[in-house]
Amino acid sequence: MASRPIRIAPSILSADFARLGEEVKAIADAGADYIHIDVMDGHFVPNISFGAPIMKAVRGVTDKVFDCHLMIAPADHYLADFAKAGADIITVHAEAGPHLHRSLQAIRALGKKAGVSINPATPVSVLEHVINDIDLLLIMSVNPGFGGQSFIPESLTKIRQAKALIGGRDIDLEVDGGVTADNAAEIARAGANVLVAGSAVYAGNDTSTYAGRIKAIRGAATSVVA
Ligand code: DX5
Ligand code: ZN
Repeated sequence: MASRPIRIAPSILSADFARLGEEVKAIADAGADYIHIDVMDGHFVPNISFGAPIMKAVRGVTDKVFDCHLMIAPADHYLADFAKAGADIITVHAEAGPHLHRSLQAIRALGKKAGVSINPATPVSVLEHVINDIDLLLIMSVNPGFGGQSFIPESLTKIRQAKALIGGRDIDLEVDGGVTADNAAEIARAGANVLVAGSAVYAGNDTSTYAGRIKAIRGAATSVVA
């Protein structure tokens, strides 16, 4: 079976929020495949970012896939808001509530792609019984809450396990946290096809650098994928 295409998903968490619309348009024009939207509640993770109204405000600047990563608990009450605000993929954390299967069903019932994310300490095996209910599996390679952290090497083992669990299913395998052009090859080799990058794309917030940075990450990742 052919490999899934490599997709680069810059995280707007590292964008200049004072110019958020321009920053989203800039990464879209620079070749981003997905726009990764990190929603944090100061409860599930120790930081607050933004919610559905902010996402909605930038929805109009591009047609690219909005890849919405909810680091909130509970998540279920807010799924419809994010669907209405223009998310294409809605990812919840397996650790965020007791009824993951229900959350995933709710996302699909809203007509959106359903993703599930696991924190560094959570084993891939928690996903065994929902693997047929998801469109995206997100391995956190840092503890969620902040951009600019270092990639946790043990994540590579989990990416390989997740890839094996996915098998031939039509599921994106996404990795989030500490992704750079320097480690993109080993991340792709382990089986990931969607690479989130916040600081590696946005550092310095100079729009003229974004295309080159996205290209460098994509080049490194695609070099190892047949
Ligand atoms: C972390 C977020 C990530 C983060 C990635 O909680 O989910 O998406 O923005 O940032 P970098 O690429 O800087 O680690
Ligand atoms: Zn994220």
